[in-house]
Amino acid sequence: MATPVFTSLKIVFSPSHLSNSKHYSINHPRRIFKHSFAANVRASSTAFVDTKQIEPVVVEKEVKQRKNILACPICYEPLTWNGNQGLSIESLQGSSSQCSTCKKTYAGTKTHLDLTAASGAKNYIEPMPVATELFRLRLVSFLYERGWRQNFIFGGYPGPDKEFEMMKGYLKPVLGGNIIDASCGSGLFSRLFGKSGFFSSVVALDYSENMLQQCYEFIQQEENFPKENVILVRADISRLPFVSSSVDAVHAGAALHCWPSPSAAVAEISRVLRPGGVFVATTSILDGPFSAVPFLKTILQNIRQVSGCYFSQSERELEDLCIACGLVGFSCIRNGTFVMISAAKPC
Ligand SMILES: C[S@@+](CC[C@H](N)C(=O)[O-])C[C@H]1O[C@@H](n2cnc3c(N)ncnc32)[C@H](O)[C@@H]1O
Repeated sequence: MATPVFTSLKIVFSPSHLSNSKHYSINHPRRIFKHSFAANVRASSTAFVDTKQIEPVVVEKEVKQRKNILACPICYEPLTWNGNQGLSIESLQGSSSQCSTCKKTYAGTKTHLDLTAASGAKNYIEPMPVATELFRLRLVSFLYERGWRQNFIFGGYPGPDKEFEMMKGYLKPVLGGNIIDASCGSGLFSRLFGKSGFFSSVVALDYSENMLQQCYEFIQQEENFPKENVILVRADISRLPFVSSSVDAVHAGAALHCWPSPSAAVAEISRVLRPGGVFVATTSILDGPFSAVPFLKTILQNIRQVSGCYFSQSERELEDLCIACGLVGFSCIRNGTFVMISAAKPC
């Protein structure tokens, strides 16, 4: 029998991960989630510039029954899942999702559900810019969490665990909701979101089949990972397969500069976020000493044309991008070239 996607996901909070919890309640009829974050994280020897101070706060969030958020990437109508169990990592293989409007079926593989518009095409091939295609390579996907990502520390990235701590302050208004880890790569943050118990469901999304394969394998290696709350989806960031206004949070780690069109991507993120939904992303800003480079703007434009990589030259540029795409309340935290930005869909 056809069941709506995601409705049978269990809402699970894991107290063991809520080390700072003051109060929490599980299996209460009105599931109330309270959590105190010490979110004001600073790297040991570096100075973060935080344009909006993150205060430790007590969060109270009512958790609602999970809704169907997956949509057809062609018409954005909700998809119907034909699996016997709820949609999760374990139940994808051999199952499929249907769009009743386009009459298109999206088949699940062992590792992920392909929700690109061209999914199922036999002869049509669409090469993306280098910054996207690079991460589709098997070798790059394999190396990503085995040394590649660790090098980001030289650009000021504090590392996944600290970045996760930093973003908690931004995500507190949407705790207990669903989160999309957009351009998840090998899933280093998807796994942290899944294990944290802070979200009722996690969608790990990437365009690269090989990154999703890595993500799947890393999850399989994790003990006691809550697989029932996580799915892996292949999709283009500029064509997100989610119902409009259905998503509580979108995270995009170290990815904005790889997207073929950041404005198309952020506009899509804005479309899928519900009012009050939160966007958190990290990327690099080439200012400071880079500003002294002659013709920097022209050089960056040329790099963009050749590789598809976009590097911002100021926080104001990123704020402008968010505002232009309908997001409000921009704030950011800096460390070297690294920046964590956040903005929200207006309520
Ligand atoms: C540098 S990795 C970031 C991975 C991870 N989020 C992190 O924080 O380390 C950039 C990711 O963006 C993905 N990506 C590039 N273009 C994309 C697109 N058009 N749609 C979705 N993901 C894309 C790549 O496949 C890659 O996994």
